[in-house]
Amino acid sequence: MVCGVKTLGQFIIEKQADFPYAKGELSRLLRDIAIAAKIVNREVNKAGLVDILGDIGTTNIQGEEQKKLDVYANEQFIAALTSGGECCIVATEEEDDIIHIESPVSQNAKYIVCIDPLDGSSNTDVNVAVGTIFSIYRRKSTAGKASIEDVLQKGTAQVAAGYIIYGSSTMLVYTTGKGVNGFTLDPSIGEFCLSHPEMKMPETGYLYSINEGNYVHFPEGVKKYLKYCQVEDDATRRPYTSRYIGSMVGDIHRNLIKGGIYIYPTTSRSPNGKLRLLYECNPMALIIEQAGGKASTGFDRILDIDPTELHQRVPIFIGSKNMVEKAEEMMRIYTKKSTAPEEKLETKLAGMGIVGGLD
Ligand code: AHG
Ligand code: MN
Ligand code: MN
Repeated sequence: MVCGVKTLGQFIIEKQADFPYAKGELSRLLRDIAIAAKIVNREVNKAGLVDILGDIGTTNIQGEEQKKLDVYANEQFIAALTSGGECCIVATEEEDDIIHIESPVSQNAKYIVCIDPLDGSSNTDVNVAVGTIFSIYRRKSTAGKASIEDVLQKGTAQVAAGYIIYGSSTMLVYTTGKGVNGFTLDPSIGEFCLSHPEMKMPETGYLYSINEGNYVHFPEGVKKYLKYCQVEDDATRRPYTSRYIGSMVGDIHRNLIKGGIYIYPTTSRSPNGKLRLLYECNPMALIIEQAGGKASTGFDRILDIDPTELHQRVPIFIGSKNMVEKAEEMMRIYTKKSTAPEEKLETKLAGMGIVGGLD
C-alpha cells in the first residue's frame, strides 16, 4: 500500500475542525505565508549566484535591481499578505512603522501579522541557515481602522506563530496553540510535507547557545550559568556542548529537536537585550512552550510581557525546561532581586550541585 504524504495545505484544512467557528481565514493566512516562504526559499537558494549575476545594488542581466535578501523577503511577505486579504496590519522588522493593508480584499480582515522576514541575515553571504519568524494576532478593535494598539498585544494572545528555516532542507514549523508541527519542503513537488508531527522538546538538553564573545558584558547570573554548563559532572552529562550559528531560527530549531538552551541576555552595551519581542521572541516562545519548553527573560515569562513599543527588545532564555529553570535560578541568585549574603550563596550553589562556587 502506498502511504501518501500530507501537505501543509491538507493539514491546515483538517486542523480547521479544531476551531469550531473558524471560517477558514486563519487557514488562508497560513497558506499565504507558506507561498511567500517558497518564493523566498527560491531566492535564498541562489544567494551565492549574486556574485556572478551582479552585486547587491547593481542591475542584473534582466535589468532588475538586485535586492538584499532581507529587503526582498520583506517585500514578498507583504505582497502575499496583501493579495491574500486576511491581514489588516503587518508589523515587520524592516519598517519603522506598522503597514496598513488597504487592498479591496482586506476590507474586513481580522488578523495582524508581526514578522521578521529574514532572520540571521548576516549568514546569507556564507551559505548558513537563515529563517523567517511570524506571529499572528486577531485584531482587538471591532470597528474602524486597526491601529498600533491592535499590534501591541501580549504573546499569550497569539493565535498562531511559526518559523521557516532555510537550511540544508527548508522547513516550516508552526503552532496554533495546539502543539507544534513541522513540514519539510519537497522541492520536487513544491509542497511543504508533514515530516515532524507533534514536535516535543526534550525536558533536559546538553547544548547551550549564546554569543560568548560578549561574555565580559553579560550579567553575573549568565556568567555563572555558563560556568555551570562548563563544569565537569558525569551525573548531569556536563560539560555541555556549545553550539551557536548566529541565526536565532537555526539555533532554536536545532535545540528544539536535540534539547538545549538559547540565550540572548541583556549586556552592558544592550541593556534591553538585542532580540525583538513582537516578531522574534514571542513567536519563538509560543512554539517552544507548545513543544514543552520554556521561554523567559531570565526572571519572567516572555509571553506575559505587555508590549509598549513596536520594536521593543527583550532578553531571552529559551529552550529545554530544566535548562531554562537552572539559568533563571542563577539569574535570581546573582543578577537582581537577591539580598542573600555571600556565604548563603555558596550554600545555595552546593544545593545546586556546584561545589567550591563558580568564578
Ligand atoms: P536579524 O538577522 O533578523 O537582524 O536577526 C539576527 C539576530 C538573531 O537571528 C541572531 O541569533 C542574533 O541576531 C545574533 O546576534 P549576534 O551576532 O550579536 O550574536
Ligand atoms: Mn532576527
Ligand atoms: Mn531580520
